Amino acid sequence: MLAAKRVIITGAGRGLGRAYAIAAAAAGASVVVGDIDTDAAEQTVAAIRASGGNGVAVTGSVADWAVARALTERCVQEFGGVDGVVANAAIMSTADPWDEAEDDLRAIAEVNILGVQFTARHAMRAMVESGRGGSVVTVVSGARDGIAGMSAYGASKGAVAAMTANWALAGHAHGIRVNAISPLGLTRMSQADHRSDRPPMPDPSRVAPVVTALLSDASAPLTGAVLRFDGTMLGRYDSSLHTFATSPAGWRGEDLAAALVLEAER
Ligand SMILES: NC(=O)c1ccc[n+]([C@@H]2O[C@H](COP(=O)([O-])OP(=O)(O)OC[C@H]3O[C@@H](n4cnc5c(N)ncnc54)[C@H](O)[C@@H]3O)[C@@H](O)[C@H]2O)c1
Repeated sequence: MLAAKRVIITGAGRGLGRAYAIAAAAAGASVVVGDIDTDAAEQTVAAIRASGGNGVAVTGSVADWAVARALTERCVQEFGGVDGVVANAAIMSTADPWDEAEDDLRAIAEVNILGVQFTARHAMRAMVESGRGGSVVTVVSGARDGIAGMSAYGASKGAVAAMTANWALAGHAHGIRVNAISPLGLTRMSQADHRSDRPPMPDPSRVAPVVTALLSDASAPLTGAVLRFDGTMLGRYDSSLHTFATSPAGWRGEDLAAALVLEAER
């Protein structure tokens, strides 16, 4: 499905990113495996090569502009261009909003927001310059709609959803399509989620085919979508506005409050 494609996948040393990288390579892509953990990145590359695939590692933090640029530079040097990027690397920490630590808030913003922007910025630049376009896959989470204790992480994923929508609009004229995936997978990160109502977590290899599909020209018409995939169910989030009251004559505060109470009780 990805023969001759050159793709960058960040956070590919373990977890979902590793599964995406192995699946993309098995589908024929040449893969730049990005991770802050050198050993983990090298192990993913070794697994790709052991199966006859093509992969190289680039290590360092995506929150570092030079590292993010190096991901694209290496993909161009080794493989001749960039056809796809999966900005998957992220971190998570949990706290009540009033107990957040400054360092944690900064780290989540740096890695999960700036790291995604840096990674995709350089890759999209190469796609524009090549005139060939490409596929950008971002990664969000159900936490953007509210999971107790995950406000900083959820906020970062809300930012990624906003980037996805905007990049899809900007990229359209250049043949760049941009979609987000909200995955579920049994990984180091999801094992740190101790909610009693945590949904069952599939093996990451069950989730990886959705990323292969999004990187492939076979899904070319789709852009600007935020998808949910848990290995079984495929869904799409919609962000439509639900209007619940209208008053052409204008509103008084008391009437708005009454309308808000009615909406709350619906
Ligand atoms: N696991 C789930 O159920 C789940 C659910 C929703 C969203 N996600 C998202 O999926 C993605 C992958 O999550 P995962 O569960 O595989 O996590 P994970 O912690 O198992 O793996 C993340 C990988 O990213 C790397 N990484 C961390 N910080 C980095 C940095 N600054 N630069 C480069 N690499 C870095 C880590 O070394 C690790 O190899 C994340 O974006 C996460 O928010 C996961």
